[in-house]
Amino acid sequence: MDIQSLQTELNDKHPKEILKSIYATGGDIAISFSGAEDVILIDMACKLGIKPRVFTLDTGRLHPETYRFMQTVMDHYQIKINVLVPDPIQLQQFTDTKGLFSFYTDGHKECCDIRKVAPLKKFLAGLSTWVTGQRRDQSSATRHSLNVVESDTHFSGPNKDLIKYNPLCHWSSEQVWTYIQALDVPFNPLHQQGFISIGCEPCTRATLPHQDPREGRWWWEEETLKECGLHAKPPTKP
Ligand code: ADX
Ligand code: SF4
Repeated sequence: MDIQSLQTELNDKHPKEILKSIYATGGDIAISFSGAEDVILIDMACKLGIKPRVFTLDTGRLHPETYRFMQTVMDHYQIKINVLVPDPIQLQQFTDTKGLFSFYTDGHKECCDIRKVAPLKKFLAGLSTWVTGQRRDQSSATRHSLNVVESDTHFSGPNKDLIKYNPLCHWSSEQVWTYIQALDVPFNPLHQQGFISIGCEPCTRATLPHQDPREGRWWWEEETLKECGLHAKPPTKP
């Protein structure tokens, strides 16, 4: 697939149109689910008459509100969400050696690798297309050059190329919340307590209105390191 021409073709399209063309191409497509943006994608897909395949990475460290929110979304859209869990042996070895809060002292990479990246890699190896809710304005440090479509060589399976779409790439936070409010889309109640970007409970805190949306994630680490390995890789050129 020629990613460059696909990017040119889709770049200025409305996210719903982007979704329409993703599903028109066929293949094994899944939407990753975690936050407000992902529910918009699910909402748009359902309104296009598609029953999307959706998955989430259950790190075991999410907020209780997030677990309830997952079920709310399943019930609201009458869909299943594949809840992926880390490898129990790897996790056991990790917590036996390092305890439950090692990320505060030696960084989040090791824990995120076990709880998120490894299960994601295993799951994505069977897919041709991955759809995420990432947006450029979520982070001036790590997402400013995000594209609508990318070739995801890092998570491609041995026998197929994985294409990753970010249909909301150019949407602002205001557009996200206008959509959610106008169309009564379910959202995580933590957003009403000052949380903008929501990850695992020990690694997420509420932010103030003037702060970068990702300042509440891994707040003890440097700005350019605030990615958990799901998306951190060089983007394809616009
Ligand atoms: S993260 O890399 O820092 O965790 P962020 O929370 O901004 O990412 O979410 C960006 C996109 O990554 C989401 O729209 C979603 O598609 C995907 N994502 C993030 N966390 C998860 C998760 N726990 N399970 C599945 N997808 C996720
Ligand atoms: Fe572990 Fe924190 Fe990463 Fe969650 S966000 S997997 S708790 S380091």
